[in-house]
Amino acid sequence: MKAAVCHKYGPPETVALEEVQKPTPRDDEVLIKIYATSLNLSDWEMLTGTPFYTRTTWGLFKSRFKILGSDVAGRVEAVGRKVTRFEPGDEVFGDIMGSFGGFAEYACAREGVLTLKPAKMTFEDVSVLPQAGVIALRGILDKGQLQAGQKVLINGAGGGSGTFAVQLAKSFGAEVTAVDNTEKQDFMRSNGADHVVDYTKEDFTKNGRRYDLILDLVAHRSLFDNRRALAPSGTYLLVGGSAKRLYQALVLGPIISMFGSKKMSLLIVNPKQNDNVRLLELVESGSIVPIIDRRYPLSGVPDALRHVGEGHALGKVVVTM
Ligand SMILES: NC(=O)c1ccc[n+]([C@@H]2O[C@H](COP(=O)([O-])OP(=O)(O)OC[C@H]3O[C@@H](n4cnc5c(N)ncnc54)[C@H](OP(=O)(O)O)[C@@H]3O)[C@@H](O)[C@H]2O)c1
Repeated sequence: MKAAVCHKYGPPETVALEEVQKPTPRDDEVLIKIYATSLNLSDWEMLTGTPFYTRTTWGLFKSRFKILGSDVAGRVEAVGRKVTRFEPGDEVFGDIMGSFGGFAEYACAREGVLTLKPAKMTFEDVSVLPQAGVIALRGILDKGQLQAGQKVLINGAGGGSGTFAVQLAKSFGAEVTAVDNTEKQDFMRSNGADHVVDYTKEDFTKNGRRYDLILDLVAHRSLFDNRRALAPSGTYLLVGGSAKRLYQALVLGPIISMFGSKKMSLLIVNPKQNDNVRLLELVESGSIVPIIDRRYPLSGVPDALRHVGEGHALGKVVVTM
């Protein structure tokens, strides 16, 4: 089969289309013929090996995974002998982070992370949901517990997870401030944000405004700066960002939360806690709408990675097979 393969950490040019062996499903896995795989910033992080903490998970000098891509959608071609929920021919989607392999014609996945695709949705549309959707779902509703009328700020709001987070917060009646780079300001407004901030020109922690919830998708400011921007009893959730900010939230977050009414912590999502059905319900109710910026063929994976990694994507980017 054909796959976009990278043998070492590096720039998008490190990735090349190669002929590789088709994977064989283990007993608890299904083999999927992939039709669409959406990109996440985590693909870029695995490609480049930055922030450095990602290497503690994926490999210090080279990644354990040669084929990136985790949000897949396709048709089941074969099933392992212990698989009970799917059979060949089923149309499925899910986040296979942990094994990766989505930028290829076929990939294997544990049945637990997969969900049946509704007939009325396209493979492309369901492929954009799992990782970005679940970050928004947990950040805004489950852990964020955002209420109607509250003020939320989403940092990195023009990317994949941010686009869903803005939509979700608006649909639950919040007042939304969206922060991202200059070229994403109009897009964030059109996606429903009440206020937009260009992070290249303004520091949202220094303008005197206060928020009930800050969802920080790309943390670069200190925990103390973010604390200042929280309303009394406000919550700060760090999803991703620099290693320094991540460790700060890990160590200092619980201490700050213990003393005082403001809560600060990391938000970690685990693909094994499959929330795809809840995401489909949110699509059905109109609370979230997949927005696909660009589509690339399998041979275009390097360009797709560059488009996302350099921060140009307005919503999601999809590779179609
Ligand atoms: N915690 C977990 O379990 C978990 C799991 C998976 C992924 N993640 C994290 O989730 C995050 C979001 O991923 P995604 O796929 O939605 O990313 P994405 O689509 O690339 O969006 C990120 C956006 O943030 C912008 N940005 C970069 N630096 C910024 C800054 N200083 N201030 C404001 N905006 C900034 C980017 O644009 P520019 O770069 O051009 O400025 C881009 O528009 C990533 O950090 C990823 O590591 C966390």
